[in-house]
Amino acid sequence: MILASSDAVKLRRMTEADLDYVVSIEHAAARNRFVGEWTRAQHKQALEEPGRLHAIVESVETGQPVGFILLAGIDSADRSIEFLRIVVDPPGQGYGRQAIRLLKRYVFDDLEAHRLWLDVKDLNARARAVYRSEGFVEEGTLRECVKGPDSYESVLIMAILDREHESAIID
Ligand SMILES: CC(C)(COP(=O)(O)OP(=O)(O)OC[C@H]1O[C@@H](n2cnc3c(N)ncnc32)[C@H](O)[C@@H]1OP(=O)(O)O)[C@@H](O)C(=O)NCCC(=O)NCCS
Repeated sequence: MILASSDAVKLRRMTEADLDYVVSIEHAAARNRFVGEWTRAQHKQALEEPGRLHAIVESVETGQPVGFILLAGIDSADRSIEFLRIVVDPPGQGYGRQAIRLLKRYVFDDLEAHRLWLDVKDLNARARAVYRSEGFVEEGTLRECVKGPDSYESVLIMAILDREHESAIID
């Protein structure tokens, strides 16, 4: 089922048939410790949990998957949706930015969210740059909250509100 589409990418609902792909690209991305890693069974269980929305990002040009997105809290009484995870493969080709643009449209226009928020390691300069340039605001730092292999790592909370999304479209 297609959730949203642009000229470059589509978001479609993830199914169990996608899980081998999802686990494989997540496993590769998790090597740099920028994203968490779940087993196939954890992904399958999460797919079925209420309040979740798991999507595959597809290239319009090739029709092939180029990533995935996990959302949580889509039934939040506060209309505050968590952008839990994104992985694109290959990175650095613009798919991440295109997918995030489409996601914002879907979350604010179709799901009528008030707030879309995420956490990101401060070491993850690429992801932070994309989020910032797509209108996410840094709201605070959880200082040294993750024990890394060499040192403690800090995590930023970032969010965008519905009115910020609207005004970016009008500008
Ligand atoms: C983070 C991620 C989703 C971004 O998607 P992407 O397709 O690679 O990113 P894009 O190609 O759309 O854009 C990258 C932008 O960051 C910039 N960038 C790249 N490396 C950078 C760095 N070290 N510092 C600052 N900016 C950087 C690029 O110049 C580009 O900006 P531009 O569009 O203005 O030229 C993707 O790289 C990914 O899946 N990474 C691994 C998993 C991950 O980190 N997920 C996020 C966890 S919070």
